[in-house]
Amino acid sequence: MARAGRSRLKLGGLPALSTVALVCGSALLVLALLSIVGSRLLDVESLHYRLGGPPFNVAEFRSSSHVVPAQVRKKPVATHDELPELKDVPREADPTIQNVWKPQYAEFYYGCSDPSDSYISLSNIEQNGYIMIDASGGLNQQRTGITDSVVVARILNATLVVPVLDHKSFWHDPSNFSDIFDVEKFISTLVPDVPILKKLPRNIEKSSSPYPMRIPRKATPIYYENRVLPKLLSRQVLRLTKFDYRLSNRLEQDLQKLRCRVNYKALHFTQPIIKMGQILVERMRRLGGRYIALHLRYEPDMLAFSGCYYGGGDKERKELGAIRRRWKTLHTKNPDKERRNGKCPLTPTEVGLMLRALGFGEDCHLYVASGDVYGGEATLAPLKALFPNYYTKETLATKDELAPFQGYSSRMAAIDYTVCDESDAFVANNNGNMARILAGHRRYNGHKRTIRPNPKKLSPLFLTREALGWEQFALKVRHHQKGFMGDPNEVRPGRGEFHENPAACICEKPNSPLHKPAFEKLTLKKQDKPESKEDIDAEDDLDSDSEDVGIDTEDDLVRTEFVGQEVLDAGTEEARLEDSEVEEIPTLSD
Ligand SMILES: *[C@@H]1O[C@H](CO)[C@@H](O)[C@H](O)[C@H]1NC(C)=O
Ligand SMILES: *[C@@H]1O[C@H](CO)[C@@H](O)[C@H](O)[C@H]1NC(C)=O
Repeated sequence: MARAGRSRLKLGGLPALSTVALVCGSALLVLALLSIVGSRLLDVESLHYRLGGPPFNVAEFRSSSHVVPAQVRKKPVATHDELPELKDVPREADPTIQNVWKPQYAEFYYGCSDPSDSYISLSNIEQNGYIMIDASGGLNQQRTGITDSVVVARILNATLVVPVLDHKSFWHDPSNFSDIFDVEKFISTLVPDVPILKKLPRNIEKSSSPYPMRIPRKATPIYYENRVLPKLLSRQVLRLTKFDYRLSNRLEQDLQKLRCRVNYKALHFTQPIIKMGQILVERMRRLGGRYIALHLRYEPDMLAFSGCYYGGGDKERKELGAIRRRWKTLHTKNPDKERRNGKCPLTPTEVGLMLRALGFGEDCHLYVASGDVYGGEATLAPLKALFPNYYTKETLATKDELAPFQGYSSRMAAIDYTVCDESDAFVANNNGNMARILAGHRRYNGHKRTIRPNPKKLSPLFLTREALGWEQFALKVRHHQKGFMGDPNEVRPGRGEFHENPAACICEKPNSPLHKPAFEKLTLKKQDKPESKEDIDAEDDLDSDSEDVGIDTEDDLVRTEFVGQEVLDAGTEEARLEDSEVEEIPTLSD
């Protein structure tokens, strides 16, 4: 309308009338815009409520988020029809597949992390000293360490000093705790649990220098009481170095619940990170409603570290071999065998085929969290052809919007965390820290669909795809993925890593169709069992995890696969590296 008015002006006819038209047109436009913006803001606010961040400035948000950059509409390099490997792959998903976006019984479960009635409130606890920690690794490894440090402080009745983020890790991010996490929120949320200070009190700082200690992996509360407490009492201030997975997976119920309160309630990203994440989520929602977030992690360092071979000939062997040399102690592996045994991430093409087989059609919107993919656009072409609505933070946001985060791997990872956490379906193509922490977080938030490829079964299956034909292949994919879809009860309580499977913080509604009183009693008994003598030293995670609860035949819904295994593999790999004092492993976009 405005343009019509202007063109009439140019023609020189009836200037008064065109001015009226211009004013009316503008008013109408403003009204229309207001109604759109108004309805959208409601959604944004409820979204923000769910993200649980501090209050934010609506006007500022409005001015920054409503423009989706033009580059979003970039065409894929090749279409579905142009790629021979997609010849027999349907564009649409099989409409008979149910519960694609949401696990069937998800609504019967909820996160529950309030302490029990016997939990002692902080004012009744005498303090034994001060604990400082260096949180090591990338963002999500640090998150694990931060969470467990609060629980350790509680076990020792110690005051915690706000954790220091290690800057020497693989990711080289100089960000401090307060650049990533909301410190005030962290301290205030945990007031009933553990006293937390930003710095050591001055008189303490003067009188005692922090005594450094390296705790063994997965140490039990008894270890802390027997070996760490005496040092705390004599030295007053302990500095726990390289603190990440330093606390047992098995703890009494109230300490597990505290872990969940720290991880899901006290640890919030800072305002700029939350806001950037929200903008991306909002754009994904506006473009496609529901969306899948894929943590691809098909980056050169990851492939080099995993020692896998993807058929790229001498060029690939040379390139990945060169990167591999930075981890001096990596054993040489047989790459073909590694892949056949499911130790390697799926290729982007394989992830795309898996998703199609699981019931996601080409109209689905895909947000891909990833660094530089090995092989670049050529590697990504089939995935982009399978899912043409393909986005990354770089295509969704402008350079200016991302500038404050660029060059800080942890801030970028925190933005991806937010978008992945908020997604309707999350797919993690690896077993790194982000995949584990998000899987746990999403279980806690009502079992949001979380897909972890089962490469042990899928990798050999992909080799037979052509011979099988699409229908048979897709059927087998769905079969092998049972137990890896983020459904309630798919992992036995106490199995695997706590941050991945926070069973103590997941409650069942009484009317749940999966309700199994006998099952619950059995697992509770196991968890409450007092620690045995062998537990006095750091628990060996291999032993504890491979212990069988002996109930897997009872119910199809309980995973029949030994699901802890991949976790263990990752764990022992890390342990091996760490014990030989080499650089941190890149367990992911952390
Ligand atoms: C911590 O305080 C509680 C409550 O006073 C007490 O029962 C517990 O033994 C104390 N633990 C340590 C390690 O001091
Ligand atoms: C982190 O804190 C240290 C010490 O206070 C400071 O020198 C450094 O500049 C901070 N890092 C960033 C990224 O602000």
